[in-house]
Amino acid sequence: MSQRVLTTESGAPVADNQNSASAGVGGPLLLQDQHLLEKLARFNRERIPERVVHARGSGAYGYFEVTDDVTAYTSADFLGEVGKRTETFLRFSTVADSLGGADAVRDPRGFAVKFYTEEGNYDLVGNNTPVFFIKDPIKFPDFIHSQKRDPFTGKQEPDNVWDFWAHAPEATHQVTWLMGDRGIPASYRHMNGYGSHTYQWTNAEGEAFFVKYHFKTNQGVRCLSAEQGAELAGKDANSHQTDLLQAIERGVNPSWTLHVQVMPAADAADYRFNPFDLTKVWPHSDYPLRRVGRLVLDRNPDNIFAEVEQAAFSPNNFVPGIGPSPDKMLQGRLFAYADAHRYRLGVNHTQLAVNAPKAVPGGSADNYGRDGLMASNAYGRDRRNYEPNSYDGPTETGKPLSAPLAVTGHTGTHEAPAHTKDDDFFQAGELYRLMSAEEKSRLVANIAGGLSQVSRDDVIEKNLAHFHAADADYGKRVEAAVRALRDD
Ligand code: HEM
Repeated sequence: MSQRVLTTESGAPVADNQNSASAGVGGPLLLQDQHLLEKLARFNRERIPERVVHARGSGAYGYFEVTDDVTAYTSADFLGEVGKRTETFLRFSTVADSLGGADAVRDPRGFAVKFYTEEGNYDLVGNNTPVFFIKDPIKFPDFIHSQKRDPFTGKQEPDNVWDFWAHAPEATHQVTWLMGDRGIPASYRHMNGYGSHTYQWTNAEGEAFFVKYHFKTNQGVRCLSAEQGAELAGKDANSHQTDLLQAIERGVNPSWTLHVQVMPAADAADYRFNPFDLTKVWPHSDYPLRRVGRLVLDRNPDNIFAEVEQAAFSPNNFVPGIGPSPDKMLQGRLFAYADAHRYRLGVNHTQLAVNAPKAVPGGSADNYGRDGLMASNAYGRDRRNYEPNSYDGPTETGKPLSAPLAVTGHTGTHEAPAHTKDDDFFQAGELYRLMSAEEKSRLVANIAGGLSQVSRDDVIEKNLAHFHAADADYGKRVEAAVRALRDD
């Protein structure tokens, strides 16, 4: 086999890749050394902005296979037939730390799935937790600022973390979840994924349902204690990435079973709490899990930068039969992600292989968006760049993707509509009471370990009040543990 020739970016052969060109043997370097200049300049541009949240992540390809008929609830084509398979890409992530952080930390995990369906890419951008810390998107930047590295100290600060939570009673449920055993998954393979929000499904007759997605791991849930996590994060910052990569390379393909909870749309208005409140779960006794299918990961990306770092998931990438609910958090996310992608990756990020809607007829998006940085779609010749036109270009279908949502009232900055049982604490209390004695002890110790480091007494007191409101025993134990650590 003949040796391949190293080339410049423009394809010319490179004469020397070991020595820069100089004026004489010991002289200064020459500006005419195209290969040196290009190599250094390109290297300077290797990094793009990291994701503002969920910066550390790992991805893999696979497929989703329908195992149960859900056509009574949604007309989505990729869910339309038992046995139907759709190619998928899943990116897992940690949330708070930057790219240089570690995997085995106490933090929610991202669980973002891209389904390459024949009706376009459907992105379900979820987490490994069924709930979230806040219920209005206007609080998201403040929340994230309080959890990420402090601009002065350069590290996550208990003062900031707990001060935010002191002002966010609605976070008590998610804080209880995060500080419990599931707060540090043993690996990405050993955790569940949740859509978390309520979404809307619409069937072929136009009937609307509200749904919540649950991906249950078939590897079993495994978690690390605070001590195990600290040890592993120190020893191997990339433990989750290595675990996922190696499992798939060995052919031990991880899988999840997808279930949904389905609420008839008419139930929503009178349900006992707001069913669009992201800080609450729907009890399975009200809306049981219905199995939908199986998600299998069986192929590692060849290049992490091209396929994982440049992957773009957006909660507003829906397909016919699936749409948003009025969940305010979800509504905020419908804007935030595509905007982040236009900043982080540029307006043409959907032309990158990992993001392209490759399963649609024709194999790419077909619209009148044109040009911009890095445009590589060769629209031209007899393709018009405006619509309507007289030249057989693509036109609208006239069919909305999902059923319309009813609205009433006046515009304004409102709190969510009141239901009979909307308080921020009862589900945190229910979660606490579900735990075994050992789990409760670890939860209390984890909370006290963080909260006792807070410098202001009033911030500690406000947080203690939330745990007391959730459950009397929970509050009493956290308070005693925090006081004991502060008296040390
Ligand atoms: C990533 C915003 C809530 C899950 C991101 C990114 C932004 C963002 C800007 C980076 C996107 C990128 O650069 O590609 C927001 C806002 C939220 C919110 C404004 C609330 C209003 C949530 C919730 C979940 C979630 C509730 C889960 C249920 C994720 C995941 C990623 C992500 C999994 C990483 C996606 C990937 O792997 O590329 N979020 N987020 N976020 N977010 Fe959110």
